[in-house]
Amino acid sequence: MAELTPTDILLTERQIQARVAEMASQIRRDFPDDLHFVAVLKGAFVFLSDLIRQIDGHASLDFMAVSSYAKSTTSSGQVRLLKDLDTSLDGRNVVIVEDIVDTGLTLTYLQDILRARNPKTLRTACLLSKPSRRKVDVQVEYIGFEIEDRFVVGYGLDYAEKYRNLPSIAVLGG
Ligand code: IMP
Ligand code: MG
Repeated sequence: MAELTPTDILLTERQIQARVAEMASQIRRDFPDDLHFVAVLKGAFVFLSDLIRQIDGHASLDFMAVSSYAKSTTSSGQVRLLKDLDTSLDGRNVVIVEDIVDTGLTLTYLQDILRARNPKTLRTACLLSKPSRRKVDVQVEYIGFEIEDRFVVGYGLDYAEKYRNLPSIAVLGG
């Protein structure tokens, strides 16, 4: 069987940077004062690092890690919490930062457990969305790009822990 490798570039570094800057402005406008980001490891770390550097003024951040038990290119639907937050969300304006929303199962799980921690507001920012793959109707207020049902890597997104370091987003092909 042929090894899967990144083939066509779907989003260039430039396109991503421009969109991330727009998302940062929109989020800051919506939350001019308190703003706390919760990024989902590992995939969202590149997006978060670019996003926060485009945010004017004060913002804090924290990380969570989840596993969907999926080592292949499809999500299994089961979500497990691997790393919890270090700080309280009580009364904060919280924005979950995720790399991609696919079936929506991971984000639904995260939103449920974070909502139970009493944030003042809870919103979600995803760099990518594959609307045609949705299994649950999850609310995502900030979406960078809607893409077709193709498996993508780069800019934090991996295939079997590879390609997270690509500066652009590419389609995985054989
Ligand atoms: P969901 O629970 O099906 O929405 O899946 C979300 C998770 O699946 C993401 O956080 C990614 O880790 C992974 N995922 C879904 N689609 C892709 C993709 O195209 N490339 C890399 N990871 C993906
Ligand atoms: Mg992820």
